[in-house]
Amino acid sequence: MAPTSPYQPSLLRLLHGAMVVLVPLAWLSGAVVYSNLDGRWLPLPVQLPGDWIEIHGSIGVLLWPLALLFALVAFSLGRHKLRQPANATALIGLGLAVGSGKLMQEDWLREGRLDHVVYHLHLLAWLLIAAALLWHVEAVLRRGGRSLAGSMFSPTLRANDHPRLWLDQLTRPFQKR
Ligand code: HEM
Repeated sequence: MAPTSPYQPSLLRLLHGAMVVLVPLAWLSGAVVYSNLDGRWLPLPVQLPGDWIEIHGSIGVLLWPLALLFALVAFSLGRHKLRQPANATALIGLGLAVGSGKLMQEDWLREGRLDHVVYHLHLLAWLLIAAALLWHVEAVLRRGGRSLAGSMFSPTLRANDHPRLWLDQLTRPFQKR
């Protein structure tokens, strides 16, 4: 029998796609905020004009509810995939970055108050998520090559994976048999 190509549930693909767009945007805009207003340990060569705290915060507002939904879907639909340490680490990195970001207050950096524990945690999460995602992509390519990587971005829809079934798919692992 020919090996079947990997398939990812459509709801997981949709939310994972949102992460692939929003996480790098949050990461890069965060780098600009750090460079413009802090830059103590790592002076970055970018100093861009504009209210980057506002831009970074707006991306965060879009990111956190979708990240929460993504985590829910990863725990229900994709629970077995989290046995892969690189997948689990990507989710932990995302949780840390989003969680510490929710605790941040935008006035801290505007007022030059750079000594908050939460801010240091958010900076650490910013570094961690970059490392976690490099490992995640490397592990996906090592385990399944382009075929596994592409499965997360493929538009194919199986008959039993219609958006109508998303709610049922989500709650199935928690339903009594
Ligand atoms: C940028 C932010 C990203 C985040 C936060 C992220 C996070 C995750 C997480 C948590 C899972 C496990 C999902 C589950 O348990 O159902 C996963 C799976 C996966 N991701 Fe990502 N990912 C990101 C980027 C990428 C990129 C760029 C690729 C391209 C190679 C990719 C390819 C995959 C694949 C193929 C799987 C399924 C792996 C498997 O079946 O074990 N991810 N991702």
